[in-house]
Amino acid sequence: MDPMLPRRYRVLRARPESAGVATVDLAPVDGPPMRFAPGQFNMLYAFGVGEIPVSISGDAAAPVLTHTTRDVGPVSRAIVGLKEGDMLGVRGPFGAPWPVAAAKGRHVLVVAGGLGLAPVRPILTHVLANRADHAGLTLVYGARSPQDLLYADDLRDWRARPDATVEVTVDHARPGWTGRVGVVTTLIPRALAGVAPDSVTAFLCGPEIMMRFCVQALGQIGIPPSACWVSLERNMKCAVGFCGHCQFGGDFICKDGPVFRYDRVAARIGVKEL
Ligand SMILES: Cc1cc2nc3c(=O)[nH]c(=O)nc-3n(C[C@H](O)[C@H](O)[C@H](O)COP(=O)(O)OP(=O)(O)OC[C@H]3O[C@@H](n4cnc5c(N)ncnc54)[C@H](O)[C@@H]3O)c2cc1C
Ligand code: FES
Repeated sequence: MDPMLPRRYRVLRARPESAGVATVDLAPVDGPPMRFAPGQFNMLYAFGVGEIPVSISGDAAAPVLTHTTRDVGPVSRAIVGLKEGDMLGVRGPFGAPWPVAAAKGRHVLVVAGGLGLAPVRPILTHVLANRADHAGLTLVYGARSPQDLLYADDLRDWRARPDATVEVTVDHARPGWTGRVGVVTTLIPRALAGVAPDSVTAFLCGPEIMMRFCVQALGQIGIPPSACWVSLERNMKCAVGFCGHCQFGGDFICKDGPVFRYDRVAARIGVKEL
């Protein structure tokens, strides 16, 4: 299949998540459903508007392809505005996945900030479906406000699981919010109480500054940067390593990433304009 040629997908279901954020379930108009690994992304083409990279946020074992998008500009606005029955062009999947298989037997820690819950959601669905393969599962998730929390139904289901720890926090509470307030870093030591640091593999996704501080906080409790994986975003055009738009030092985010082991990119994260 030509990686530069979008396939036509139809919207089976479109649902709002929070202000300006929506999730769509897609199915190909013809041909088999897409197979992908957690952490990969697609190039979504809103016909007549443009094409953008968006992480796959659904279950890798499900027959539908799911994406969650925030309206920040023309293309993402067109995707957030899609309705059931609408068409979208899809190229992919692209990129290096989260190394979930390598975390077999280990305690999986997922740390997400804001829309960063979308690219790690396939890790959570996979680990929960294969829970016996892992020593434990902890999710630490932070959003700006209670209204910005994604996947309300999933959060409720995940919290009800006796074999997972789920900690949620918001930067700014609203009346009626009885949960935690504060940054995700403060929740990490408590969320991992009783867990052996050398058993943890951490997957982090969110603003780069959040990931940097979280890796520092993990280091303070004995979890090294080499056990931490992050997902990075840069502008993209081709998604297959031709155009150079996504260059990040010696790597192309589209083909060498978007998922990287933290110690391999630590010196570059935080460098302005890189
Ligand atoms: C690998 C990868 C995975 C991604 N996964 C997702 C995803 O799952 N969901 C999703 O909504 N987006 C995701 N993005 C970001 C998405 O590609 C951009 O938001 C999109 O390209 C914006 O295009 P646009 O035409 O709508 O807006 P543009 O006109 O290109 O941008 C509008 C404005 O928004 C700013 N902007 C661009 N990206 C972002 C951003 N991520 N956050 C805030 N402001 C931004 C731009 O600098 C500009 O000022 C991902 C990006 C990459 C590289
Ligand atoms: S997007 Fe073209 S090289 Fe990565």
